[in-house]
Amino acid sequence: MLKLKSFFGLLMRHPLSLAGTAITTAAAIIFLVFFSLDLAGLHGHPYVGILTYLVVPAIFVAGLLLIPIGLRQARKRAAPAGAELPVIDFNREVVRNRFLVFVVLTTLNVVIVAVASYKAVEVMDTTAFCGEACHSVMAPEHTALKRGAHASVSCVECHIGPGAGWFVKSKLSGSWQVVSVNLDLYPRPIPTPVHSLRPARETCEQCHWPQKFVGDRLKVVTKYAEDEANTEKKTVLLMRVGGIEGRVSKGIHWHVDPANRIRYRSDESREEIHEVELTGPGGEVERWFAPGADEGEKASAGTWRQMDCVDCHNRPSHTFHSPEQEVDRALQAGAIARDLPFVRREGLKLIRAEYADAGAARAGIRAGLESFYAAGYPEVARGRAADLDAAAAALFEGWSSNVFPQMSVTWGTYPNHIGHEQAPGCWRCHDDQHTSKSGRTISQDCETCHSLLAEEEQDPEILRTLSP
Ligand code: HEC
Ligand code: HEC
Ligand code: HEC
Ligand code: HEC
Ligand code: HEC
Repeated sequence: MLKLKSFFGLLMRHPLSLAGTAITTAAAIIFLVFFSLDLAGLHGHPYVGILTYLVVPAIFVAGLLLIPIGLRQARKRAAPAGAELPVIDFNREVVRNRFLVFVVLTTLNVVIVAVASYKAVEVMDTTAFCGEACHSVMAPEHTALKRGAHASVSCVECHIGPGAGWFVKSKLSGSWQVVSVNLDLYPRPIPTPVHSLRPARETCEQCHWPQKFVGDRLKVVTKYAEDEANTEKKTVLLMRVGGIEGRVSKGIHWHVDPANRIRYRSDESREEIHEVELTGPGGEVERWFAPGADEGEKASAGTWRQMDCVDCHNRPSHTFHSPEQEVDRALQAGAIARDLPFVRREGLKLIRAEYADAGAARAGIRAGLESFYAAGYPEVARGRAADLDAAAAALFEGWSSNVFPQMSVTWGTYPNHIGHEQAPGCWRCHDDQHTSKSGRTISQDCETCHSLLAEEEQDPEILRTLSP
């Protein structure tokens, strides 16, 4: 008891150290309560984690720092100017006692700060922190991620990956991002491609095995026509995904066979590819140039990049869709009733229109559908309010998953490089224009990448054959 009394007597010598003690104690109590709740399994909102492991510990440390500052001030006041350093005399009992209390409290503080730092890193690595703490900034990526195949993969598994080097790098750039978000310095939309993305070998390949032979894969695309009946049409493709089988690789995943190395030279957006260089298994090199890209200044324009997964799968998680894809998906899923006359055509018009914000979009879409049916199909407007509500909700879902006015993101802002429908994609290289010195081009032959088994047919025979 005596020991504590003398220690606190010391702390009370200056208002700063007194305040510091109060702040630190309060923060420690709050921290311990939240930490116990967390251990007990009550995780609550993601912000509770941010509060517990980032905000409260910061206050705790700030309080700790105030204590020595106050003590110094107190000493300055007590001692005449030019006094020598304090003499710590362990022969005095009061000094020994203070020292003991100091050691015990410091150990406790170190434990609190260590637990908090460890948990802070964990919190910062959650999808909730990346996707929600920055609200509107990451809303497009977060929204798209939640709808896709990688919904349960966290942001850091692709953006940081394992190991200490990228961890430190990402925390440094992350700190800058926090500053730029708070000072409103970040660009809208956030630019793509990400030039500092970690190579896919160290992220995607932690889970996916490029050598795995996938072979041919059947892909069925369902679309609807813009007629009164919203006629369904199916395209059936046999994708030559390929991979490595035995010693040889073939098909689309031939590009990521470690035996082949493909580099390309392009503009910053990677949309315009000037030159492609292939180093084959035996070290032989072949180069293809876009028309004129091997002449004069153009021969060295742009930057080189080694091709990996992300050059095709650039939207593995942040997959934005076209308005057509959104309406077709909703029709196929039954979220929009297929027997609403002209609903495909009208729905498309409504989600393509410009709206100032989500509220305006929700209201505009609903009002648009209502007025169309009221004018042309009064019996639908009167008798099928529930279907119209459902259709309006599905259309709004499509709009709000792709259009983010506060981030200047709209339809087509982020091109998808798989295929060649939404953006040039594969055809950035496979355009029959990139030519080698020997006159060979990178082929656009439709059969290179897929067999087109049916194209926009109502009742493709191939599907009846496969599933009679
Ligand atoms: C499955 C892997 C994966 C996951 C999970 C992932 N990302 Fe990405 N992210 C990528 C790739 C790949 C790119 C684009 C690469 C390119 O073209 O340069 C990207 C790009 C981005 C961009 C740049 C803008 C854009 O859309 O191109 C932002 C911002 C971003 N991601 C944020 C996030 C956030 C926030 C999360 C978690 C909510 C997340 N990412 C989860 C792979 C992923
Ligand atoms: C933490 C593990 C993990 C990481 C890292 C990861 N993926 Fe995946 N990926 C998955 C899982 C799980 C699935 C879903 C498989 C399924 O649904 O059958 C998947 C599915 C996919 C698919 C098929 C998706 C579809 O729409 O059909 C592609 C393509 C893909 N990943 C590419 C990538 C790329 C490119 C990267 C790196 C940018 C990456 N993945 C990183 C785990 C991961
Ligand atoms: C040259 C472009 C290209 C590259 C490079 C590429 N992929 Fe793919 N990948 C594709 C295409 C195209 C498909 C088929 C997509 C479809 O069916 O819609 C595909 C399919 C896949 C699938 C789904 C396969 C399945 O079982 O259905 C996964 C997973 C995948 N890729 C992962 C990867 C990973 C990991 C890498 C890097 C090691 C990679 N891809 C590199 C173009 C590419
Ligand atoms: C950066 C340039 C580039 C891009 C982008 C690209 N490719 Fe290629 N691809 C090549 C080159 C170079 C070859 C080899 C051409 C040759 O030797 O004739 C090739 C060959 C192929 C082959 C034949 C492989 C074999 O079996 O020998 C397929 C299939 C293919 N690409 C599919 C795709 C698909 C699908 C995409 C888009 C998802 C794509 N490529 C995007 C450069 C590219
Ligand atoms: C370099 C590879 C490549 C070449 C060459 C190519 N395609 Fe494709 N194509 C793709 C890929 C990859 C997809 C699948 C995109 C996806 O997964 O959504 C695709 C999808 C398609 C689709 C379905 C699109 C949809 O969503 O409705 C059609 C139709 C198509 N291709 C036609 C053609 C025709 C016609 C040619 C010849 C002029 C051709 N393709 C040449 C890679 C290629």
